[in-house]
Amino acid sequence: MDAPTPAAGVRGCPFACAPTGGTAAPVGHRRATPRSPAPAVPDPVGLARGVLDVVRRRGKHFLPESLLVRLDGLRHPAPADPYFAAFLDCVLDKYDGRFHNRTYLALPLLETMLDDPTTGMDPDRLSAVLMSDVVRFELAATGADRPDDRTLRTRLRHARRFVELCSTDGAGGGEPTGAVARWLDATALPVSVLHDEYFFIRALQCHELTFIVLVADVRAATRAVRAGAPEAAEARLRHAIEVFARAALLFRIVATMRAATFHTFREFTQGASAIQSDQYKRFEAACGAPSRARLRSDAFAGVPVVRDEVLAGQDDLSRAVLDSRRPGATGWDGLGAAIAELEGAHQRWKAAHRGVAGRMLGTAAGSGYTEGVPYLDRCMDNRLFGDLSAA
Ligand code: HEM
Repeated sequence: MDAPTPAAGVRGCPFACAPTGGTAAPVGHRRATPRSPAPAVPDPVGLARGVLDVVRRRGKHFLPESLLVRLDGLRHPAPADPYFAAFLDCVLDKYDGRFHNRTYLALPLLETMLDDPTTGMDPDRLSAVLMSDVVRFELAATGADRPDDRTLRTRLRHARRFVELCSTDGAGGGEPTGAVARWLDATALPVSVLHDEYFFIRALQCHELTFIVLVADVRAATRAVRAGAPEAAEARLRHAIEVFARAALLFRIVATMRAATFHTFREFTQGASAIQSDQYKRFEAACGAPSRARLRSDAFAGVPVVRDEVLAGQDDLSRAVLDSRRPGATGWDGLGAAIAELEGAHQRWKAAHRGVAGRMLGTAAGSGYTEGVPYLDRCMDNRLFGDLSAA
């Protein structure tokens, strides 16, 4: 990767006079000097935009130490604005030595948008906003490393299709407003300045949001089974099967990236991997309790919160069906068929993921420190509803 370009002062930022040249922030850095009290931040959005200006020209991996030290000072006491607090959490991850999937993808900021009742956001709408932002970004790009016309057309076609699939209520891909408009730019924090890392981050963010929807579907189906309503459970699983088609589209989008580009920026993403995706593992655990071996494996080591949820004991669809099903009674055959289709959709999702990963990664190890493709090959043997088919 090219050396980072020298950054100018941070526009619109109280620290604009701070020297911004200097070395990249070392991962694992610990602050050496005592913190001074945080100055008031009258314009958190303006300050974040100033920081983003530097991120866009250097990459988050290469932020100057002087800027990071000053941003660190703004965390004590914690900022009152939840968006600004989430932004600092994400932008200072490498400085703190806790770079991770969650902060790489700016999930704290996206969750703040979902939690904020003024935004009207749900995971579908936010996915549409994020993928529409990819379309905007790709069309506006002028850099030398933007994709060729053919690749661009393919990427845009898949991205627009994804937006359509997220917008079944017609409300999806519109222009963001309010807090989402103000903070959207801050949710893309590439570690490098390579063009393709931007859409890669957006695709992974959409993956997280998609799996929030899938978890909600499976949990609702579980409650319906417990309530003796297999038809209602089937309806939620049919929705989940449709959502999986959208999830698979993300791999087609990512497949438009050149492997060489991926290898260039992944040098700076070590330690952040979708193996740490809470939502993906939550989905798996909502379908059926993971085996003891899987709970102890790399797969769950990166998601301690979800592992604790499982160990604390929680209901899942497999257990609910085993407790309640009445073969031959109305509704149960349809539910069984939907469960089998969901299993098939997940197997196809894993095969598509393995295909893209194999092409991009070759024999290299994963950024989550597994052996890479051999790990994904073994994952193909896992089943969401293994307990059900064994019963
Ligand atoms: C350049 C493209 C990609 C490559 C090379 C890749 C590679 C990998 C590798 C090697 C792993 C194993 C964990 C590790 O060591 O990091 C993994 C896990 C995972 N990846 Fe990807 N991936 C890619 C794109 C994606 C995309 C686009 C998504 C979602 C849309 C995704 C979702 C996941 C998930 C959920 C896991 C955890 C699987 C499990 O633990 O069972 N990946 N990926």
